[in-house]
Amino acid sequence: HLLQATDLPLHGKRVLVTAGGTREMLDPVRYISNRSSGKMGYAVARVARELGAKVTLISTPTALTKPAGVTYTEVTSAADLAKAVKADFEETDLLVMAAAVSDFKPTHAVDQKIKKQPGQTGLTLELAETEDILKTLAPLKTHQFVVGFAAETQHLIENAEKKLAAKKLDMLVANDVSKPGVGFNGDTNQVTLLTPNSTPMTTNLLSKTEIAQTILKAAIERGV
Ligand code: CTP
Ligand code: CA
Repeated sequence: HLLQATDLPLHGKRVLVTAGGTREMLDPVRYISNRSSGKMGYAVARVARELGAKVTLISTPTALTKPAGVTYTEVTSAADLAKAVKADFEETDLLVMAAAVSDFKPTHAVDQKIKKQPGQTGLTLELAETEDILKTLAPLKTHQFVVGFAAETQHLIENAEKKLAAKKLDMLVANDVSKPGVGFNGDTNQVTLLTPNSTPMTTNLLSKTEIAQTILKAAIERGV
């Protein structure tokens, strides 16, 4: 018979994807952020849509083309992102937290541009922690399958195992961003998928689209 939309593996599923690096404003013209390009999250959103899901993408501003057929919400700070994710969480079947969330924000954001004083030779910034979104969501989980990401530069598996447990995740996608072609900005990635009670699985160096397909296939196999 003809292939029906209802045959797609994520048909009827609501998938929430976060992407990009959050921005913490220091003053109206400056912010602290990170090297996330948003490409990995965008690829997950696009592939989830192709697999039949109803997809919401919550992203920081990026230069990327918005995936077709996906509901798009733009955020800037970690606090904005937390608010948007929490608002959608209950009605989500699969959450993929690909966003690189700032761990700290300026303690005092000021509403006027910080001016360099005559003779000033340095500047010390005071930062305070942001909310850990995945930790907040962990006790609110009912049916949701939650996937976290971890970019590491050393002790990949050890650090990733700790995050999988601490954030009560169903899957953690870990990558060693110190390796060439892995992680930020590029079009390729190599990841290790960790799930509770099974051996970590490492992919080859693949396109971010292929990585997205691998992540979603693994989530579907585990019951999304
Ligand atoms: N994360 C989050 N809220 C934060 C920080 C991170 O929800 N405030 C999420 C990220 O989106 C990612 C996962 O937690 O899916 C792991 O992020 P990571 O930065 O690797 O972990 P941290 O717990 O912040 O640990 P560290 O940065 O110290 O390695
Ligand atoms: Ca972090």
